[in-house]
Amino acid sequence: MFSMRLKATPSLCFVLALISCVGLLADAIYANEQPSGVEVGSLLCEYKVKPIGMDELYPRLSWQLKTTRRAVSQSAYQVRVGARKEDLIQHRNLLWDSGKVKSDQSVNVVYTGPDLLSGKRYYWQVRVWDDEDQASDWSQLEFWEMGLLEPSDWKASWIIPNLDEDTSRPQAAPMLRTEFEIPEEVGSARLYITSLGLYEVEVNGRTVGDQIFTPGWTSYRNRLQYQTYEVQDLLRKGRNAVGIVLGDGWYRGFIGFKGQRNYYGDKLALLFQLDIAMKDGSSLLVLSNDTWTSSHGPILMSDIYMGESYDARLEQPGWSEPGFDDESWSGVRQQDFSKDHLIAPVGPPVRRQEEIKPVEILKTPAGKTVYDLGQNMVGWVRIQVHGEAGDVITLRHAEVLDQQGNLYTENLRSARQEVQYTLKGGEEEVYEPHFSFQGFRYVMVDGLRSQPALDHITGIVIHSEMAKTGRFKCSDPLLNQLQHNILWGQKGNFLDVPTDCPQRDERLGWTGDAQVFARTAAFNMDVASFFTKWLGDLAADQLEDGRIPHVVPNVIDGFASAAWADAGVIIPWTLYLTYGDERILQRQYRSMKAWVDHVTRAAGEDDLWNSGFHFGDWLAYNTTRSDYPGATTDKDLIATSFFAYSTDLIRRTALVLGKSEDAEYYSKLLVRIKRAFNDEFVTPNGRLSSNTQTAYVLALNFGLFPEAMRSIAADRLAQDVRAFDNHLTTGFVGTPYLCHVLSRFEHLETAYALLNQKSYPSWLYPVTKGATTIWERWDGIKPDGSFQDAGMNSFNHYAYGAIGDWMYRVVAGVEIDPEQPGYKNVLIQPSPGGGLDWVEASLQTLYGEVSSKWSFAKDRFRLAVGIPANAQATVRLPGAQLEDVSVDGKSPAESVGIHSVSQTRNAVLVAIGSGNYEFSYPAPTSAQLE
Ligand code: BGC
Repeated sequence: MFSMRLKATPSLCFVLALISCVGLLADAIYANEQPSGVEVGSLLCEYKVKPIGMDELYPRLSWQLKTTRRAVSQSAYQVRVGARKEDLIQHRNLLWDSGKVKSDQSVNVVYTGPDLLSGKRYYWQVRVWDDEDQASDWSQLEFWEMGLLEPSDWKASWIIPNLDEDTSRPQAAPMLRTEFEIPEEVGSARLYITSLGLYEVEVNGRTVGDQIFTPGWTSYRNRLQYQTYEVQDLLRKGRNAVGIVLGDGWYRGFIGFKGQRNYYGDKLALLFQLDIAMKDGSSLLVLSNDTWTSSHGPILMSDIYMGESYDARLEQPGWSEPGFDDESWSGVRQQDFSKDHLIAPVGPPVRRQEEIKPVEILKTPAGKTVYDLGQNMVGWVRIQVHGEAGDVITLRHAEVLDQQGNLYTENLRSARQEVQYTLKGGEEEVYEPHFSFQGFRYVMVDGLRSQPALDHITGIVIHSEMAKTGRFKCSDPLLNQLQHNILWGQKGNFLDVPTDCPQRDERLGWTGDAQVFARTAAFNMDVASFFTKWLGDLAADQLEDGRIPHVVPNVIDGFASAAWADAGVIIPWTLYLTYGDERILQRQYRSMKAWVDHVTRAAGEDDLWNSGFHFGDWLAYNTTRSDYPGATTDKDLIATSFFAYSTDLIRRTALVLGKSEDAEYYSKLLVRIKRAFNDEFVTPNGRLSSNTQTAYVLALNFGLFPEAMRSIAADRLAQDVRAFDNHLTTGFVGTPYLCHVLSRFEHLETAYALLNQKSYPSWLYPVTKGATTIWERWDGIKPDGSFQDAGMNSFNHYAYGAIGDWMYRVVAGVEIDPEQPGYKNVLIQPSPGGGLDWVEASLQTLYGEVSSKWSFAKDRFRLAVGIPANAQATVRLPGAQLEDVSVDGKSPAESVGIHSVSQTRNAVLVAIGSGNYEFSYPAPTSAQLE
């Protein structure tokens, strides 16, 4: 093909083709081989597909190798970046060409080309060489686009509506509008927008984008996100209009459990900048300024906790279209609010994710109509109704019904979760609320002339848009329901911020809850950028002296509780392990260190952290039973344990970041804390001063006992579990590690006994009571059907869902090798037991899918393992004898991709390269499995 073209008559087109062919030839010579059978795909920039409006100056690029061959790894890569697609295709005018870089890194490769510029789009592609130095083809083109990088890029002014308001209570949502002329055909257009309060934006009568709850919730005084939208398709040559509605949101609506409003300020404001590039090369900026107009409209009030009241008779048709008569509208005022703290979003946007249809219509004893959605969910109800103008429909939302079958709303405390819609009459009306969300399974509908059909009510499920990465299934339907509940706890509570609960007057970013659940969350969904964003707020709201707030963003001004504030260290470390993300450690290092240094000062000379306020082992088992003492763990023991743990994590972080002096300092500190812990809380025979499961779990999990005492302590823990008829007694703090500690110290069956336990307190007890999410309390609904204390009884609280982590890591056995984090080297170490016949788990990692599926069939144990290219694994075959093991029906020695095989006391270890393998051997007895 190349020589044919050489003979052709030159023309511009030919010259271009020639240049590109020369480029390709040069590439081929450079690569020195034929394509390798490896393709490169799934390109991500900063964990996102084609992100726009970024402000990361050194974006990181990731890709995956796709191949059907086994044991494939990358030996080199080449990335190139250009300003235009054609430049990459023709291999010219490149902005950056990494050249062939000898490296097996395919995740988070840092762009180190020329400085990136505001508003510019960058196209990129990559190719790789495999372990035999065979080059792949170039990947498809992807791009990222920068947002506004400097405050001075913002030409728009902050504006506030000039409307009368009484901000001591929820207000009608203001609408703002403007019109403008576009003189030429539109080429491309970007809208950069943010607000104080929430916004919804329309251009020429059409909603822009599908993000909701924008601009999101951050530490508003330090960081305010703006969004970027591509809007050329909504604009046209000639007259255009835009309209924006503002909602109170987190900014000035109710926030926290003390009835507080206007926490960040009492004025809603808008910053709007529309940058239009015309096809003729000219450009136009449309900016928020004092020429805009404002009015109230149909949203009479909309509050996150309280709900919404909407009067459709007050709609102003055409308000966001050109030609609308806004004579009667008020003006706006320009304000001098800061633009210095504007940031591009790092995390995923919140969007509508699923729709749920009710499963049943119920009548309460009081004769009310209630729709059961069959799932405790978060979002709202869309209704389709017919009626007369002025008819008022009221929707009340609840998670559960009481014993009589009435809506149970006491646990909402002061949050009303009530939506009122006043009909305009005539045609069918379809309505969804705007700046409010509800946590509910049941919705009571009042005020209709006739009952709507089941399909006229739809549950709209909303959450931050995170790819679903994990899947766990097994032979026990109750455990599958538990996994379902864990996942729904995550869906319901990852709404821009990781919240404790979605229904009562909290919905706050409780640090402790997030810390407890982070690792489980990272199995179920891709939470890399979600937590990265939140950690930015954590650092922003951290006090100068290192204290970390109880909730982030901070709205309640409480700080520094053990296990809560430690989120500032534990979550960055979790992201590092899960995604191999070193940058999060670099960026959070100051915050992590400030926290540990604060605790070091608080602990003082004796290295015991026994001062300050702590939540302790929140909601641990409490009893009046005379034969069991309950499970209150000494708060000083908990605090000192977490002091040791965070010190250990920052020590490891310092090692990763090459900060050897810090690493040494924290190693020494850790030795001292352990010594202090042992002197204060451990008897010479290895007994702890608090005889609770949580105390033993923490001391064992954080490695606080001297080596020789560990198995004795673990036996004592297992003994405590058995003495309580295989029930747990742990609260928020001990629960995540309980089964881990038992299985690690040879009490796997006791751990399974806890997992399988169906009576209170246990994970499956709520499942037997029909739970569809994780409850805040082990006994949210008591065995006699009555409720726990309404003051603290959420039915959608993910903390106890932390058992999900054990199900993935131990039951299915998908584990991270901390030496090669991010699943570069996967440890597949299933733990059959607990009466399960089979388990299947998979996880989309940054390398591709990892899977572990085990089963007992016909006296044999089978383990199917899938490892993505450019990753590898160490597989542990429990209870196996080397001579009995077959791989895909052959001996390991005959199998491609097996690097090594070895026998340990009670298992066979196999090191494998990427690919799919099925191991099989005679089913081990339970004794062989311990
Ligand atoms: C929240 C929690 C939180 C706790 C502090 C509660 O009100 O719902 O989950 O961690 O307070 O202990």
